[in-house]
Amino acid sequence: MITVKTEQEIDLMREPCAIVRDTLAYVGSKVRPGVTTAELDAYAEKYIRSRGAEPSCLGYSGYPASICASVNEEVVHGIPGDRVLRSGDIVSIDLCAYKNGFHGDGARTFAVGEIDEEKSKLIRVTEECFWKAVENLRAGTPLFDIGAIVQQHAEENGFSVVREFVGHGIGREMHEDPSVPNYGKRGTGVRLRAGTVLCIEPMILAGKRYVDVLDDGWTAVTCDKKPAAHYENTVVIREDGVEILTI
Ligand code: MF3
Ligand code: CO
Repeated sequence: MITVKTEQEIDLMREPCAIVRDTLAYVGSKVRPGVTTAELDAYAEKYIRSRGAEPSCLGYSGYPASICASVNEEVVHGIPGDRVLRSGDIVSIDLCAYKNGFHGDGARTFAVGEIDEEKSKLIRVTEECFWKAVENLRAGTPLFDIGAIVQQHAEENGFSVVREFVGHGIGREMHEDPSVPNYGKRGTGVRLRAGTVLCIEPMILAGKRYVDVLDDGWTAVTCDKKPAAHYENTVVIREDGVEILTI
């Protein structure tokens, strides 16, 4: 069931979402050659707690860290560890914070040092997919217009979209209805109502759309080992557009 949030509930979501925004910027400032993804996780956890929030990912279905850190061909749910980032890598940081009884959720893909043209185009197009999807989004928009727009922009640029992982509603739970795929057909799906809060999160692959999950049970990687990027924000559907809570 897709719940519509009251203005009071949306107001309570502002703080965890602002903490997500600020944590992503802070972790991004720590991304450089030589840092490990476990160090980035520690920075994030400490920062989230310093703001009086909890890292929602830690312990979620047994997930062992506060952030997901997915490097190069890792698409999502990369587990932080002793992997050292090197110039030329890209790293997608996805994290959630819980405060006031609500979750916020966001992701950014960062360049490590100097990256090649394919990776910088991938990061740019992934962010553009998000912005194009929200550009025409307002109360009454059919749900699958979001994915249709993301898919079209990714494919027009020679990239592909993941089918196995999707965006989602968010609120008192980290994952609420509806699922928000990054593919689909325009004009289909329920018409979104004002006050619906969604995580819109294009996961875009430089190569083919197929992914595997590693033996750790979490890390999704591209089958062809080409890089992937991720960009996510928590947004409120309004009568005349969207309000983005994690920017
Ligand atoms: N932010 C992720 C999402 O959008 C959550 C990561 S899954 C977890 O679904 F298990 F790591 F929490
Ligand atoms: Co999410």
